[in-house]
Amino acid sequence: MADPAFMKLTIEEKDVAVLTLDDPRGSANVLSQAVLGELEQHLNDLEGRKDLAGLVIRSGKPGVFIVGADIREFLAGLGAPRDQILGMINRGRQLFQRLSKMPFVTVTAIEGQCVGGGAEMALWCDRRVMSSDSKAMFGFPEVKLGLLPGWGGTVRAPRVLGLSNAVEIVTSGESIDAKTAAAMGLVSDLVPSAKLLPAAIQVIRSEQTGGQWQRDRKRWNGPLNISDTELGFLGATASAFIQGQTGGQYPAPLAALEVMLESAGSDADTAGAAEAEAMASLFGTPVNRALINVFFLTDRNKKDTGIDRKDVKPGAIKSVAVVGAGIMGQGIAAASLKRNLSVTLADAVPDALSKGVQQILEEVAYDKEKKGPDAAKAVRYAGLLNPATADAEVAPADLVIEAIVENPEVKRQLYARLEPQLSPQAILASNTSTIPISKLAESLKRPERFCGIHFFNPVRKMPLVEVIRGAKTSDETVATAVAYAKNIGKSPIVVNDGPGFLVNRLLTPYLNEALELFADGAEMKAIERAAKEFGMPMGPFTLYDVIGLDTSFYAGRVMYEAFPDRTAASPILPALVKAGRLGQKNGLGFFSYKDRGRGAPDPAANELIKQYVNKNPQKFTQEQITARLFLPMVLEATRILEAKVVRDPRDVDLGLIFGVGFPPFKGGLLFWADSLGAAKIVEMLAPFENLGTRMKPTPMLVEMAKTGGKFYAT
Ligand code: NAI
Repeated sequence: MADPAFMKLTIEEKDVAVLTLDDPRGSANVLSQAVLGELEQHLNDLEGRKDLAGLVIRSGKPGVFIVGADIREFLAGLGAPRDQILGMINRGRQLFQRLSKMPFVTVTAIEGQCVGGGAEMALWCDRRVMSSDSKAMFGFPEVKLGLLPGWGGTVRAPRVLGLSNAVEIVTSGESIDAKTAAAMGLVSDLVPSAKLLPAAIQVIRSEQTGGQWQRDRKRWNGPLNISDTELGFLGATASAFIQGQTGGQYPAPLAALEVMLESAGSDADTAGAAEAEAMASLFGTPVNRALINVFFLTDRNKKDTGIDRKDVKPGAIKSVAVVGAGIMGQGIAAASLKRNLSVTLADAVPDALSKGVQQILEEVAYDKEKKGPDAAKAVRYAGLLNPATADAEVAPADLVIEAIVENPEVKRQLYARLEPQLSPQAILASNTSTIPISKLAESLKRPERFCGIHFFNPVRKMPLVEVIRGAKTSDETVATAVAYAKNIGKSPIVVNDGPGFLVNRLLTPYLNEALELFADGAEMKAIERAAKEFGMPMGPFTLYDVIGLDTSFYAGRVMYEAFPDRTAASPILPALVKAGRLGQKNGLGFFSYKDRGRGAPDPAANELIKQYVNKNPQKFTQEQITARLFLPMVLEATRILEAKVVRDPRDVDLGLIFGVGFPPFKGGLLFWADSLGAAKIVEMLAPFENLGTRMKPTPMLVEMAKTGGKFYAT
């Protein structure tokens, strides 16, 4: 046999083969074609051995078993012909299936993450033992890539775990922890990592005498034992649930459900063939490609240090001070506490400070399982949170984040007072959503230690953070801010200073256009529907209400001053604000939120804005509405790229997905634009020529249309 590269075979207690997976190329085991090839050779050798009582498959990497198949290989094969795709799928399943036919007991010892192809391999074994102390997670994330577990996951999970458990874990894509796995009957034993191998060998010994494994093999090879009534009930409830969750825009979970239901009465081989066909039908579809792109966007973001230089390292942030204990300050403080950073909180208003502390502790002490506060957590976090009554308490922090009122003068006064008290190494950052960072830095002594760290509301939910680089911000400051944001679980992107930074700048043309469409005669309902059917989590008018109409008006004014050529100054927002309609925060916006529930159409609002509709209202098709909402965003993105606001077009896509919920199944704004092609976009813009600059192809787009250029190629 050729040099074993990814795994090592040893023999324990004379008759137990132990295959230890330890991919030398990285910190996790990935099931690439080369790894499968090596596994195949081992199985060829082991199959013929008469001296073995069992095989244990385990990981040589502490805390992780297998993180799944090699997605780069998937990417390379996306355009392959169907028979080639089927071949790849069948090969993996048939290989794993041999684990259920070896002439001895097969056991997987799971330590840490065991997902995707790793979970399938484990399921094809006769038995599993799991580590109780290494954050063991088991699951099938395939649906999140627009696929289904195609190496036998949909065959084996229903047979080993029961159909309803299988439906839940396969169609949700969510992993389960060791405790849940044990309750589901997935594992024979739950032991500390150090005892995994002895526990696996013990399972082999007891199976040797009991022989239950052979009866299970027979049972799991056949059809499921489930009545038609049960099957019908499960199918109906699960498909209704999936429809609700996916809005019909993600086909994979439903495809996985269907194949499991349809194969319930078949033997494992027939079910496997059906699974392969279903998988091949999903592979390479637009949604699959888009979701794979999102996977790589996320992966790239995880590795990005925020700067291009390799010689600069981020500074350590052990303590954070947050000035401003309002909505944003509370969120930032809570996120930092949850990562065990020591946090000092300050506010000019004592009442705001004590209210802030209370809200923060409520958030961090919340226990998901208990669905309420956890006293031990509250005590621990309270020890890390220091409400400051004087600047001297803020001064020692490694990082000071300002989240006070959005007023440049007030912010500058605060900096002038605080900066001289901070250590020379400390970083000062603003959470401003609109004020240029370079302007705020003008009177600072150390503008190189200043940047924007722009969180999104609500901080608890929104993964995006924009790290804003001012004209004088140093690389080290940027790298430190990026590392801090990652440490508290966020996905930071680095954005050069400019009006609206990245996300708000892209959102402006979209939100603006909704008002213009309305004024031109489109119905609010139709505009909301077009945006939602495109895949946005909510329509633009609902989004206005969420942001707040006063805030939107103020931000819109900043954008109008910066880009008057293409920003319309609609009278609709100021009219609503003047009438006291501020959005969800006071229950009245474009819609009414009286019952704290979803927005309901409000005759009073409609009456108020009706007067702004053109005298000769036009009729619009949904396609026209969609084009007018989303194409101006693409145009703005080209201007952003030309102005080098971000370092890579992928930052635009990740920013919109993580910042405003742009539909992942479209892969991102520019990924979607690439799928249309620049020439097509220019053609789609032509009918809107009369609307001026905001619908006019930019030089970059025109050039791309000529050369067939793609955003993802730049
Ligand atoms: P907020 O009004 O809820 O809280 C601001 C807090 O700062 C108040 O408690 C106030 O007493 C305090 N404060 C005002 N002046 C102060 C001073 N000189 N020294 C100390 N404390 C002072 O405001 P919010 O919404 O938390 O916004 C804060 C910052 O975050 C603003 O710059 C805003 O633009 C930005 N931001 C807001 C977002 C939002 O959706 N609300 C989203 C992203 C950024």
